[in-house]
Amino acid sequence: MTKKFLALCLCCMMAMILAGCGGKQAAGDGAGAGSGKGMKVGVSMPTKSLQRWNQDGANLEKKLKDKGYEVDLQFAENKVEMQVSQIENMITKGSKVVVVAAIDGGSLSAVLEEAKSAGVSVISYDRLIMNTDAVNCYATFDNYGVGKIQGQYIEEKLGLKEGKGPYNFEITTGPLDDNNVIFYFGGAMDILKPYLDNGQLVVRSGQATREQCATLNWDEAKAQERMDNILTTHYTEAHVDVVLCSNDSTSLGVQSALKSAGYGTAGKPMPLVTGQDANLPNIKAIISGEQSMSVFKDTRALAGQVVKMIDAMAAGKEPEVNDTKSYDNGKKVVPSYLLPPKFVDKSNYKELLIDSGYYNEAELAKQ
Ligand code: GAL
Repeated sequence: MTKKFLALCLCCMMAMILAGCGGKQAAGDGAGAGSGKGMKVGVSMPTKSLQRWNQDGANLEKKLKDKGYEVDLQFAENKVEMQVSQIENMITKGSKVVVVAAIDGGSLSAVLEEAKSAGVSVISYDRLIMNTDAVNCYATFDNYGVGKIQGQYIEEKLGLKEGKGPYNFEITTGPLDDNNVIFYFGGAMDILKPYLDNGQLVVRSGQATREQCATLNWDEAKAQERMDNILTTHYTEAHVDVVLCSNDSTSLGVQSALKSAGYGTAGKPMPLVTGQDANLPNIKAIISGEQSMSVFKDTRALAGQVVKMIDAMAAGKEPEVNDTKSYDNGKKVVPSYLLPPKFVDKSNYKELLIDSGYYNEAELAKQ
C-alpha cells in the first residue's frame, strides 16, 4: 500500500467518524467495527462521590482501551462549570467522540455547539442532555421501568391491590435538573397515585410533588436532613410505613434519619424503603434488613452498549438503537438504546450480583 493510499483511507475514516450517528459506511473503507486504532474518546462523568459513576468510568475506559481507543476520562465533582471546561478540553485535545453523563442536562448546549462545529460526535450517557441538537444518540436504562419496579414493589408488599391500608407514605427523589427523575418519579407514581387518591397511602408531610421531594445532586446528607425534618414535624406520634426513594444515595440518607429517630429497634420496625443502583452499602443494608429493595442497572452492560455505538460511529455506520420515541430533549427526539433494569432484594442478590461477578462475597462481608 502506498503512503498516499493510506492517507486517503485515513481521511475517509475521519469523515465517517465526524458523520456520527447519521453516517453510513462507505464501501471498502477498511475501518472495521471495533478497531479503535488510536482514535481519541472523551468520557465525562459527573462525580466520583457516587459508586456507580466510578464503575461507569472505569468500565468504559477499560472496554475502550481494550479495543485500541485512546481515552480521556474526567470526573467533574458535580460542578457544572468544571464539566463544561473538561468537555471543552476534550474537544481541543482531539477527541472525536465524547460520552457525557451530564450533571445538569440543560447546561451543556453551548459547549456541545462547539463539539458539533468541530465535528465531534456526542453520546448522552445514562442521563439525557437537554435542549441541543448536538447530541447524536443516548444510551441508558429503561428509566420509566425503574420507577415502575419501585412502585410495583410497594403495591405488592403492602397489599394495596387487595385494598389494605391506610399506610403512612413519604417520597424522596432526585434533582430537578436530571431528566431521569421525571421517569423515575413518573413510573412509580403512575402505579401509586390511585392509592394516594383513595387514601390507602397517606403522605402526612403533604409533600408529594417532584419539586417538593427533590434532592439536589442526589446528595445523601440533603436527603437525610429533609427526612429528619419530616420525621420531627409529622411523625412524633405516627409511624412511617413506607418511603419511596428513587435511588440508593437518597435511600441511605433516609435510612440514617429513620435510624436516628429510633426506627429499626424493638416495637419500631423500619419502613419499606426502596432504592436504585445496587450500590455496595445498600446491598449490605438489604441483607441486614434496613433497606427493602434496589434496582440493579448493570453498568458493565451500559458501557458495552456505548462501546458498540462508538465502534459503529468509527465505521461510519448507524449505532444500534431500540427507542426512537421516548427521549425528546426539547430540540430533537434523541435515538436511544434502553437496557432493562432489574429488581433486586434479599431473595435474588446472590444470583444477580455475585454469580454475575458484579460483587464478590468478601466485598459484601466487609464492614
Ligand atoms: C441518575 C442515575 C441513577 C443514580 C443517580 C445518582 O441519573 O440514573 O442511577 O445513580 O443519577 O447519581
